Amino acid sequence: MSNPSLLILAGDGIGPEVMTEVKRVIDWFGAKRDLAFDVEEDLVGGAAYDKHGTPLHDDTMARALQVDAVLLGAVGGPKYDALDFSEKPERGLLRLRKEMDLFSNLRPAQCFDALADFSSLKKDIVSGLDIMIVRELTSGVYFGEPRGIFKEGNERVGINTQRYTESEIDRVARSAFELARRRSNKVCSMEKANVMESGVLWREVVQKVHDTDYPDVELTHMYADNGAMQLVRAPKQFDVIVTDNLFGDILSDCAAMLTGSLGMLPSASLGAPNADGRPKALYEPVHGSAPDIAGQGKANPIACILSFAMALRYSFDQGDEAARLEAAVEKVLADGVRTADLLAEEGVTPVSTTGMGDAILAALDASL
Ligand code: IPM
Ligand code: MG
Repeated sequence: MSNPSLLILAGDGIGPEVMTEVKRVIDWFGAKRDLAFDVEEDLVGGAAYDKHGTPLHDDTMARALQVDAVLLGAVGGPKYDALDFSEKPERGLLRLRKEMDLFSNLRPAQCFDALADFSSLKKDIVSGLDIMIVRELTSGVYFGEPRGIFKEGNERVGINTQRYTESEIDRVARSAFELARRRSNKVCSMEKANVMESGVLWREVVQKVHDTDYPDVELTHMYADNGAMQLVRAPKQFDVIVTDNLFGDILSDCAAMLTGSLGMLPSASLGAPNADGRPKALYEPVHGSAPDIAGQGKANPIACILSFAMALRYSFDQGDEAARLEAAVEKVLADGVRTADLLAEEGVTPVSTTGMGDAILAALDASL
């Protein structure tokens, strides 16, 4: 039997340096846990644009559709600001999401005990926090037509369209309810049904999916602005939050920061299951390309490493090995190892990106 396949797209900014640490972790699982992967690498974002004049080459897209999972670093950077929308690095990522049909984006926000003091919120508000944002990822205002900048009389008008079909809402709602059943069995759905028809439909469909197939799960609805407020007021009231593409983008950054650093948060983007039961899947850290610190060995590789842990769990049915990796990260943090983004304590010297990788590999060795 051949090994499961991974396509690594490290991308731009700090993407390549954090991905280097992930590759060491992947090799560790091959060497020590008899869990080898066939790894291919390719370009995405600005890196792909520099080489091919497009943020995602068709060949790369085709490979992404064939492999068992894609691991992505980050895309974007100031160098590409002046490019046309269709050529921007972000388009490469959006194309992957769309063509792989990765409609369910899982963004966990978990507060590690060792980092509870790093949050901008009081420790008791965030300690023990464990929420999962399920963000719809292939529709809504990110992709709706018409879109563009048009001429209207003497001036220009910028237009984007928020659009959701019932089936798009239905499938992401199901994935949220399924997840909730494996957690604390609560879903809060967020939209703006008070001002948007798409929100009215969203609420109706989520309620219907619930009543028909998931009556055992506790469901509440909240306007997304109130949701943002509740996330910083009392985040532990939530278990699973399901929301649309744009609200999910915003609320997940907000939730991520509750945990102390954006450098900690992984994500999984999942499509429908294939014939073998595996969903099409792409894993990436929630943080971006951080061009201000790129190439300096300062970046925190944990979000990207935890994204690989999510791949072990959601693509490869290796929940125990995922837990082993997560525990290794937790141990390193408990031991006080810190990259520069995690430096609240006085007198602590930050480790480099590689230093954090070394510490996590040592903790993995110690777990055997
Ligand atoms: C994210 C990012 C992306 C998004 C960008 C890079 C296109 O902010 O994954 O949250 O807006 O979805
Ligand atoms: Mg975002």
